Amino acid sequence: MKIGVYGGTFNPPHLGHLAAAQAAIDSLGLDKLLIIPAAIPPHKELPPGTPTAEHRLAMAEKLADALLLPDKVEVSAIELDRPGKSYTSDTLLDLRQEYQDGEFWLLLGTDMFLTLHKWHEPERIVKNANLCTFRRSPRDRAERFVAQQAYLKERWPWVKVKTIEIPNLVDISSTRLRELLVQGEGAQYLTPGVYGYILRNQLYGTRADLKHLDIPELRACSYSMVLEKRVRHIRGTEEEAVRLARRWGADETMARRAGILHDCTKYLTGEEHIAICRQYGVPLDELELTAPKLLHSKTGACMARHIFGEPDEVYEAIFWHTTAKADMTVLEKILYVADYMEPNRTFDGVERLRELAYQDLDRALLLGVETTVQEMKDRNLPVHRNTLQAQAWLREHGVTTEG
Ligand SMILES: [Fe+2]
Ligand SMILES: [Fe+2]
Repeated sequence: MKIGVYGGTFNPPHLGHLAAAQAAIDSLGLDKLLIIPAAIPPHKELPPGTPTAEHRLAMAEKLADALLLPDKVEVSAIELDRPGKSYTSDTLLDLRQEYQDGEFWLLLGTDMFLTLHKWHEPERIVKNANLCTFRRSPRDRAERFVAQQAYLKERWPWVKVKTIEIPNLVDISSTRLRELLVQGEGAQYLTPGVYGYILRNQLYGTRADLKHLDIPELRACSYSMVLEKRVRHIRGTEEEAVRLARRWGADETMARRAGILHDCTKYLTGEEHIAICRQYGVPLDELELTAPKLLHSKTGACMARHIFGEPDEVYEAIFWHTTAKADMTVLEKILYVADYMEPNRTFDGVERLRELAYQDLDRALLLGVETTVQEMKDRNLPVHRNTLQAQAWLREHGVTTEG
């Protein structure tokens, strides 16, 4: 089993780390990649505004999730949990206990590779792991690379060194990135998920006013709250909602912001959903208490209103996006239908729904509602009463899906 070991302070984890991790997985054919945030020792001078270990771990998780390989990529708290300074030699010994058949590859940035022999117990390191290092091109510090490789070979003849070239490796140091973040810049060097996490928690001296975010920042915050695999759907819903708003004369900005936030609480636990509803005084019915996952529309609406300062129209659109209800506003209909048929959706009948959505919004809404009712019946699940009321209301008002 080939295991990549990627340590660092990840303060914060950025696109350079992401590219290196992806390149190592591909070039080495790794079965597993362990991302290991290092403990920052108490006696060391902390860079200004260094987040807690908990935050650095959470940001590393966001970076790992962005690779979209949940079975392969793991974040390990092994160094954060171990008291004292983080020595790679100790970490490798611990990992050897855990993965007895592991063939370890230590991932190293150029500077780390060039100074490896000056680390704590370098011999123990190269006894337990092969080395994998990155550079931009064969000319990138070529002389020092060749010299270091020769030196390591001479001192520890068994050592295996693999060099990976990443031509467009993102050129940013964490130190520089922290300076940029204080000035409200640097987003282009981060995954949206990590950037949104930084904004929401006001790390690194960022002081974003969450109630007045611009669109890219709002996206980052929303994406930082969900798994990466959900982002395509959220992006698709945003874009579809804007197109529908244009078609039906609704407010495009509100449609966009509702689309961006509509699923932001999708991955909360049942208890978290219930706690948020209690906190903001949202009444819950029996069905919702037994299946609290249904609540992401209500808790998403609460986040939109109370955390991100969205107006009532956006709150209501998100609130009704899973169940629908009788007598909906145009914006509410738009979000419901966009969520149902955005470009990433594939189910029998989605094409008809897409066509109807631009011809007659009410008929598209009814088709969505009836598709849900049918699906619930097929799966022997109770239909939410608001969904049945939406269906009845539309039919009473002469809407039909036939023809
Ligand atoms: Fe949803
Ligand atoms: Fe959705």
